[in-house]
Amino acid sequence: MSSANQQRENWGSRVGFILAAAGSAIGLGNIWKFPYIAGEHGGAAFIFIYLICIAIIGLPVLIAEILIGRTGKRNPVGSFKFLSKSKIWTSVGFMGVAAGFLILSYYIVIAGWSLGYIIEAVKGTFYDFNQVNTSSSYFESLTGNTTWTISFMLLFLSITMVFVYFGVQKGIERGSKIMMPVLLILLIVSAVKGISLPGSDKGISFLLEPNWDLVTGNSILVALGHAFFTLSLGMGAMMTYGSYLKKDSNIFSSSLQVVFLDTIIALIAGLAIFTVVFATQQNPSAGPGLIFHTLPIVFTKMSGGYVFSILFFLLLSIAALTSAISLLEVVVSYFVDEKGWTRHSAVIVFGGVTFLIGVPSALSFNILSDFHIFGLNFFDLADYITANIMLPLGGMLISIFVAWVWGLNKSLVELKLGAEGLFENYPIIIKFWKIFVKYFAPVLIFLVLLNSLGIL
Ligand code: TRP
Repeated sequence: MSSANQQRENWGSRVGFILAAAGSAIGLGNIWKFPYIAGEHGGAAFIFIYLICIAIIGLPVLIAEILIGRTGKRNPVGSFKFLSKSKIWTSVGFMGVAAGFLILSYYIVIAGWSLGYIIEAVKGTFYDFNQVNTSSSYFESLTGNTTWTISFMLLFLSITMVFVYFGVQKGIERGSKIMMPVLLILLIVSAVKGISLPGSDKGISFLLEPNWDLVTGNSILVALGHAFFTLSLGMGAMMTYGSYLKKDSNIFSSSLQVVFLDTIIALIAGLAIFTVVFATQQNPSAGPGLIFHTLPIVFTKMSGGYVFSILFFLLLSIAALTSAISLLEVVVSYFVDEKGWTRHSAVIVFGGVTFLIGVPSALSFNILSDFHIFGLNFFDLADYITANIMLPLGGMLISIFVAWVWGLNKSLVELKLGAEGLFENYPIIIKFWKIFVKYFAPVLIFLVLLNSLGIL
């Protein structure tokens, strides 16, 4: 059957797993998306709601996913098969593998822009931008250029494939151990730089003083949806990473650390970006273009802006890379475990397939921009189907599976392995986890789902 029982790879160390999982979680979602949605939904007030969502939904579901993976010791499809034998649950795993493909196919488009912007920063292009118009039209001319977009997308995908090709310890773990500290340092340097700018205090108050007027019912749902995306939940990425864990690892404390790192990075990214945006009197609710349109103009006005602009896009690319690796790993582990493929051929074949699916997304910003399905171009469609439907649905089913199908009694026996002290000394934490996975998560996610489909 599967090769999972032969010599399956493991993480080399506890910190290796935490950094790889944090690497998956920390990505474009934290640095590109979080600041602009916080900007659109009232800053501090939105952040407050987001933190609650992370704590009561994100963390419990993350624990559930890692637990399924560690127990099943396989990719999402194989792990569900191992725990339930039912076709319905296997198809949840399958939906995860499909979502991995789709997310990766559009993720590499934005990540490719980020790589391309490193080159623009090195060339000093941003010095020609003196107002938002020049910056945005330059952005549009780059993304409108098919050769530019597709080449950088391909370059980014190839780098991702190299890490996955070398496997769990030699590729993913080693890469994360180097890249995550670099990312953290670059981001802290950016935030310190931002805070030191005259006028940055307005940015800081934007992040700390809630403006409840901008918060609507929709903001709550956006916050919850983002909690999923930013923690890489709902499609088996964390399950797959969990499957390389040994039984004596403490899932509770590792999950807590991953959530902490992801959240703190999002907040530092917010600080780095909003101090700069306010210090240079830009609009905080500029939307998805916030990083690509606004920051380049700002860089030219700062002392040391040249080096800083290179570092910024470098850090964005590194963050995207460790996330993309986790997406490709889900697909690869499926073909390795279930179909008996070698890791090397799975990486090459499915890297290639991802490229092909990614091309229409890349072309959505140029020659295919008028080609719409259900009123959306390819890029927006891939984003919509995955982030708004597949992930919340996956997350809801994962929590239902653990609490109601596999059952809390059996899952707690597994969860206890490696976390004995916690069970004995803090039973209250376990009690909370049970309530959150059993009731809160499924119900609240169901509401987000209805909202995504426009029903609520
Ligand atoms: N969490 C990553 C980010 O914030 C994106 C990501 C990686 C992801 N793997 C995932 C999102 C799996 C959902 C599911 O950018």
